[in-house]
Amino acid sequence: MRHFLDTEDFDRSELLGLLTLIGLLKRADKQGALPPLLAGASLGMIFEEPSTRTRVSFEVAMTKLGGHALYLKPGEIHLGQRESIKDTSRVISRMVDAIEARTLRHQTLLELAANATVPVINGLTDYNHPTQVVCDVYTMLEHKLPEKRLEDLRVVFIGDATNVCSSLLMMCTRMGMHFTHVAPARYQAPEAWREIGRRNCLVSGGSLSITDDPLAAVREADFIYTDLWWWVGQEAEIPERRAAFMPRYQVNAALFAAAPPHAKMMHCLPASRGVEATDDVLDHPRSIIYDQSENRLHAEKAILVKFIHPRLRKAPTALRQWHAGEILAFLEDRSSRPAS
Ligand code: CP
Repeated sequence: MRHFLDTEDFDRSELLGLLTLIGLLKRADKQGALPPLLAGASLGMIFEEPSTRTRVSFEVAMTKLGGHALYLKPGEIHLGQRESIKDTSRVISRMVDAIEARTLRHQTLLELAANATVPVINGLTDYNHPTQVVCDVYTMLEHKLPEKRLEDLRVVFIGDATNVCSSLLMMCTRMGMHFTHVAPARYQAPEAWREIGRRNCLVSGGSLSITDDPLAAVREADFIYTDLWWWVGQEAEIPERRAAFMPRYQVNAALFAAAPPHAKMMHCLPASRGVEATDDVLDHPRSIIYDQSENRLHAEKAILVKFIHPRLRKAPTALRQWHAGEILAFLEDRSSRPAS
């Protein structure tokens, strides 16, 4: 069973194929011509944390493709409480065509996937956020200078080594792009991620840099990306984190002005406006944060189609008609055959 847990589970050509599929589905959708590729399919969406973009994009994507999504909000189902993760996974697998899960711990997602009999899609864990970065790289392709190829692009991520930073580092290096993480030493990408990035670069020809110097890093950036400096559960660390990042690592007008005039501003959102980035940069004409958000919808459609469509059973018309006849005959009490 193949799942979508980590971009590292896919080679460059598979990821390129996914990026192409996003474009095809987006174009069809924009023309009101999206085929109902997932008619009759259901997606179970498990959330252990709140979400705006991930929840809305997956649910709308299923509806647009002719399927249905169930929002299983935090605390609404048994998941490791009153029922093992294994049992929950096996039971839900019997009723839906795929599971999307946002779990607090990556290990929970891995356990869900290990026991699922349908594809599991990672909707963010404490380790990574692969659906976000597939969408991000697609958005970069839409906004890059026309003369640049994917493998020419320089992505500079400024801020904490978040789950989005982890996935972006891995996806960019896998695609042959040039990725720089800028943060104070204590908050830089850990060695395990760097090792994966370096291995990716050996195959792809991309590059990975880690630095504590934001001004030098943005000078050749095509895309500047930032994310929250702290998350739910890290409230006690806020004073220490604020002191480490502010003001040097804030993406503000002065830092953005040091980048090339074509550089674009990115943020996965939600943002703490005035903290990791200022309003004037987030709302700048070269900010593409809302294009990123919209592209979550198109990316989810591609991921859902890739994983669900090939598994849907399509009975021949004659067989469907035969079953309909048998059931209707029974309902109209014209059949005396006992149920078997
Ligand atoms: N970027 C992102 O995953 O947003 P949500 O937390 O709103 O889903």
